[in-house]
Amino acid sequence: MPITLDYLQARLKEWKGVELARTANPVLGEGNPHADIMFIGEAPGQKENEQGRPFVGAAGKLLNELLESIGLKRDDVYISNVVKYRPPQNRDPTDQEKQACLPWLLAEIALVQPRLIVPLGRHALGHFLPDITITNAHGKPQKLMNMDGVTVFPMYHPAAALYNGGLRESLFDDFTALRAFLDSQS
Ligand code: URA
Repeated sequence: MPITLDYLQARLKEWKGVELARTANPVLGEGNPHADIMFIGEAPGQKENEQGRPFVGAAGKLLNELLESIGLKRDDVYISNVVKYRPPQNRDPTDQEKQACLPWLLAEIALVQPRLIVPLGRHALGHFLPDITITNAHGKPQKLMNMDGVTVFPMYHPAAALYNGGLRESLFDDFTALRAFLDSQS
């Protein structure tokens, strides 16, 4: 059987490689399987756990608004998370949980082959650029030494912006910068 996103989805349902899989439902990424842009969050929350889909709660609504603000729809992009199961009470994922789930994310990246990766928040950023903070990196495109031709464009996590007007404004500004970057590449 060829390795596809559907195949990953089916395999993830059987996977018990992380303790979180005992208490939560698997949530793989979703969207355009050939997307040029991949957004990567932290881990599913309650709504995502219930529906088995990424970014369908309040943070997801804001992400949809941000996408629409620059003329994109969810179907145009691919949306995923570092951790594939909801941590109890939405606590931060541990390093061990992030490490254990990483092969799933790497498989998604290998299949979708995005040109641009947008880590949302510090947990996703930490995988790509471990030596830089989200405060310094957000809104600025960066090249990766180990991923030829892929640009990383870090952003604040939409959940962090839900109750913080300043971060919300930064996120919309960063999406505007993302639009300008995309236009400059086409
Ligand atoms: N926060 C995340 O990081 N991911 C989701 O899917 C939802 C909220």
